[in-house]
Amino acid sequence: MTTFALRTASPAKTKAEAVVVGVLPGGTLAPGGEDVAAAYGRKLSGLLATIGAAGKPGEVTKVPTGGTIGSPLLVLVGLGAEVDPASVRRAAGNAARAVTNAASVALALPADSPELLRAVVEGYRLGGYSFTAYKSKPGTPTTPAEVVVLTPAARRSEIVEALTPAQVLVDAVAAARDWVNTPPADLTPPAFADSIAAAVKEANKHLPAGGARIRVTVLDEVRLAELGCGGILAVGAGSAAPPRLVELTYQPKDAVAHIALVGKGITFDSGGLWIKPAGSMATMKEDMAGAAAVVQATIAAARLGLPVRISVFAALAENMIGDSAMRPGDVLTTYDGTTVEVSNTDAEGRLVLADALGRAVARKPDTIIDIATLTGHMVLALGDKMAGVMGDDDIVAEVLAAGVKAGEDAWPMPLPASMDERIRSSRIADLAQYDGIRWGGGLFAGAFLREFTGGLPWGHLDIAGPTFNKGGPSGHLATGATGYGVATLVELLRARSEVTAPADAASSAPA
Ligand code: BES
Ligand code: MN
Ligand code: ZN
Repeated sequence: MTTFALRTASPAKTKAEAVVVGVLPGGTLAPGGEDVAAAYGRKLSGLLATIGAAGKPGEVTKVPTGGTIGSPLLVLVGLGAEVDPASVRRAAGNAARAVTNAASVALALPADSPELLRAVVEGYRLGGYSFTAYKSKPGTPTTPAEVVVLTPAARRSEIVEALTPAQVLVDAVAAARDWVNTPPADLTPPAFADSIAAAVKEANKHLPAGGARIRVTVLDEVRLAELGCGGILAVGAGSAAPPRLVELTYQPKDAVAHIALVGKGITFDSGGLWIKPAGSMATMKEDMAGAAAVVQATIAAARLGLPVRISVFAALAENMIGDSAMRPGDVLTTYDGTTVEVSNTDAEGRLVLADALGRAVARKPDTIIDIATLTGHMVLALGDKMAGVMGDDDIVAEVLAAGVKAGEDAWPMPLPASMDERIRSSRIADLAQYDGIRWGGGLFAGAFLREFTGGLPWGHLDIAGPTFNKGGPSGHLATGATGYGVATLVELLRARSEVTAPADAASSAPA
């Protein structure tokens, strides 16, 4: 695994096998690259023009330096006109995939603010991410063991202090990606529950001595039946692998808020008897990404020591066909006693979330956030790079603000009053799970979930679009799982831990 170190050393003198600098439009080097520009002197702009390094986003040019600077290879990455966390993250990600054979890499990208340093670390580590667990011959591509970030600001305390949180975050995002990328036959609900328990156990070992630990409870199908979790059980009924509800609690003594995080964990969504067309089923191993995000965000929050109590509910089931599969026309009863008429077995996410939300409400948190690859409607509305956010206005605003800080795009969506009629249109049960009307299906799903939030402050992220990158790698995104949502949730937890606690009071409070 790559570790990052900060140095003030000059990028022109460093002996790393490759040194990365940013290029701005007009043929100048971005901040951080001044010494390299000085070493090339007046030859530089002509050289950049000749090799076609125009400073465009996505552009990567490798130049053998022939002794002009200390490193034998100069990697020029286009930044575009803006030097900001988004452009730096993208450039660092593109650089990571260009230097996979270098044993040591120095990044001389703009990194003189905490936000930019974080962007360099995120971009490089996540852009260089690859899922190699199933390659029989590992080794390609490799990532250097140590990456040095060169910046004149390397000794400034706010820069030094930004490095660890950035590494904690990228660890969590990469771990969420690993889960989502894992083949669904190997990540059934019981296997995923075991893997979550193992990840939490491992994380607990490294948490500060004397502090709180994350506790894990795995509810199996017998316990779920005793509790009356009819949604999770119905969705999981068609699979040979039984469903699970994984509950985590992290309760530091100095907690200033209590947030419940609820994640959709459908380990494979075939659609059930309302089977999906083959093309839509192809990537449905991604349907547990919400569960992966809530668990990894919680592990990151614990490693960061955020003074927030977190209650996690990861609803795991496999939506399959079989003799015992849930049928259109069935009526089920959720944890809170609500009856739901099922008409479309492919609208399974809202059914498992209904139980998980009910379990969350019983803990009386200040706020509930759920995150789910819930509807194709949201992908149609917002595209495949952006989440739709619904719920109470102030919580939606909080999620959107966290998304901006995290560098994850999200957009507010309404829950119109007309949806209340639609979710109540069942003639035989309390709620209709689906009403056969395609229009506004993502909002119908949101309104359905709201019924299970007990009137508590609540926000809902529909991440069906941004969870899985079906295209080629670009910037910090690899092909496949993106880990979307982890960063936003961590930012939200961080903001909650700061808003309510005066900073000095929190840090001086007895443990
Ligand atoms: N898991 C899907 C939603 C999805 C779509 C996730 C694309 C990722 C990418 C969900 O369970 C589903 O099938 N939703 C249905 C709902 C409909 C039947 C009301 C959909 O979007 O068509
Ligand atoms: Mn479905
Ligand atoms: Zn689904």
